[in-house]
Amino acid sequence: MRSILKEMTREEKFRLLTGTGSNTSYEISRLGIRQMRFHDSPFGVRMKAAQTQRKETARKAFSAFPNADKGEEVVSTAFPAGCALGATWDKELLYRVGRALGEEFRAYGINAVMGPAVNLKRHPLCGRNFEYFSEDPVLSGELGAAYVEGVQSAGVAATPKHFIANNQEKGRFTTSSEMDERTMRELYLKPFERIVARAKPWAMMCAYNRINGVYASEHRQLLREILREEWGFDGIVISDWGAVKNRAFSLLASVELCMPYQQEAYGQLENAYREGLIDDGAVDEAVERLLAFLERTKAVYEPHEIDFEGHDELAVQAACEAITLLKNERDVLPLQPGGCGRVLVIGERAVRPFIGGDGSSRVKNPPVVREPLAELKRCLGKGAEVEFLDEGCLKTYENEIGYMENALYEKASKADAVVVFLGQDYSQSSETMDRNHMEIEPYQEHVLRVCRRASQRVIAVLNIGSAVTVSHWEKYADAILVSWMGGQGMGAAVARALTGAINPAGRLAETFPKRQQDVLSLQTYPGDGLKIEYREGLMVGYRHFDTNHVEPAYEFGFGLSYTRFAYRNLTRDGLKLRFELENTGKRDGEEVVQVYVSAPKQSWVTHPEKELKAFERVFLKAGETVQLEILLKEEDFCYYNVALQRWISEEGAYTVRIGSSSRNLPLSCGIERKTDALITTSYAPE
Ligand code: BGC
Repeated sequence: MRSILKEMTREEKFRLLTGTGSNTSYEISRLGIRQMRFHDSPFGVRMKAAQTQRKETARKAFSAFPNADKGEEVVSTAFPAGCALGATWDKELLYRVGRALGEEFRAYGINAVMGPAVNLKRHPLCGRNFEYFSEDPVLSGELGAAYVEGVQSAGVAATPKHFIANNQEKGRFTTSSEMDERTMRELYLKPFERIVARAKPWAMMCAYNRINGVYASEHRQLLREILREEWGFDGIVISDWGAVKNRAFSLLASVELCMPYQQEAYGQLENAYREGLIDDGAVDEAVERLLAFLERTKAVYEPHEIDFEGHDELAVQAACEAITLLKNERDVLPLQPGGCGRVLVIGERAVRPFIGGDGSSRVKNPPVVREPLAELKRCLGKGAEVEFLDEGCLKTYENEIGYMENALYEKASKADAVVVFLGQDYSQSSETMDRNHMEIEPYQEHVLRVCRRASQRVIAVLNIGSAVTVSHWEKYADAILVSWMGGQGMGAAVARALTGAINPAGRLAETFPKRQQDVLSLQTYPGDGLKIEYREGLMVGYRHFDTNHVEPAYEFGFGLSYTRFAYRNLTRDGLKLRFELENTGKRDGEEVVQVYVSAPKQSWVTHPEKELKAFERVFLKAGETVQLEILLKEEDFCYYNVALQRWISEEGAYTVRIGSSSRNLPLSCGIERKTDALITTSYAPE
């Protein structure tokens, strides 16, 4: 590599440090330095057919799926969006999804997936929450690490993004996320830190916004001192598209690749070199990393097959695992095939599901999209009569008591069950804009109210990208099932969950508040146009709700099942926890076991009431009991001490609690730590 470096002219080096087109790097064929490709999305390939070198792969996919829109985009599996993947709490699944994505990107000759997106859901209005996994850094980091390992096992780089603190879309290009260092370390850096420690990503994308006044793309402290020197990150940093203001400043901060092509970037490097701001050492260091990256991803230059069928099965499985059951009064679900004569299905999302949100993550040309209505008919079988009512007509009559309301009432009262699909439009889950409220639309509430009067079996299916408020209308529904934005397999997943072919086990990766104003971090939203003050500090999501005793509608970690689980007999040996879990019901099912730690009451610093430290998704047959073992680590007892610039675990009495959600923790034990201990990283790899 050194020898190539010697042969490169300065101009070639500068060109390599900046992109060429919208998704490519500069090619230097005389030295065998190939063009590299960088594409979205974290949930499937987003690439114009004209952009791929693998014309044959693109052609074969088009002819294999004649129904896939033959527009400009290549065919690619649409996996569930981050909100759905987050709700699975399943690391092994995330590895497999990552692997499948890696295979598809590789087949289309792409060096890096622009994902996973692991920013925290600081508050529910952020338009990109549908892309992100969770409000919790450990859940985000663990799922992100598994995903990265999966992608990279296929020879393609993963690019965790957006480093860091892009937690709202409003003002994302300029505003400064203002926070203290402890908050930054314990919340906003943590998912990235864990991913670097566990999965060693080959790339990382810096954010658009500023952090404490400095652009993420120029943030020397974050990119060089913390990411590289402290954590040992050895990949390349890619700028978010257009995030670089001055290429020389970003180079000094250790951004190796500025994307996309920016006319002024080359001149900025030249000027800075002439003025002595950057020298050969800085340039060569970055070029060398880019060359190492090219070497790491060389597999993408060889032809590769895509197993669309296998990926479709996986997409369905992932969508199934994401299904989150929030309410099931009198066990109205599942609908029994054969036992349910007439089902009335209402709502456009039953035939035109939102499989993902809008913006750079939208997978435009999936090989197949399963329609919930058709899948439900299939699952219910011939015996059932399924009638569909598009809400379009209801929408017109909004709040009128009239013909449509009567017609709806008539139909609902004749049905054995009414399934209402509730969704929001794209503007509620979209890059570049935030939502301005968390409500479902008034006419949808109205539909539910009419159905409630007519039927004792009203089921609401929420096809949403982030938390909504349910307090107004919850009483009109006997069951609430969240399908999230579940990718191409979502329709099948909803139908299977409604009919009991699968047992829901998704869990909320974000708190559903009773009221929007209960969310502490919204008090400083959206900022003054220059700054967004993260004044709530660590009190984000359940950390706030639990510490400040605010009752949520549905808590972090919550999700029902068609069976029940019992936790018993916790014993502890050092940091090893052992306990029994029994499936006490009549159906097989999965439980998501969650472990939370509370810091000593006598502490010199303030802590959230409890914090998630470990979790495991476990399958149990009906009636089965398993012995589970979870090993906590020293790091799980630490906080970041700013004065010492270290993670420290204080002496004192900690409480460990285990259960099925942040507010249902039947097992607990104490752990006494006798001395203070300093730890250099918040997470040591196994
Ligand atoms: C988004 C990134 C995306 C990039 C490339 C940006 O606007 O913030 O997440 O990867 O565009 O499309």
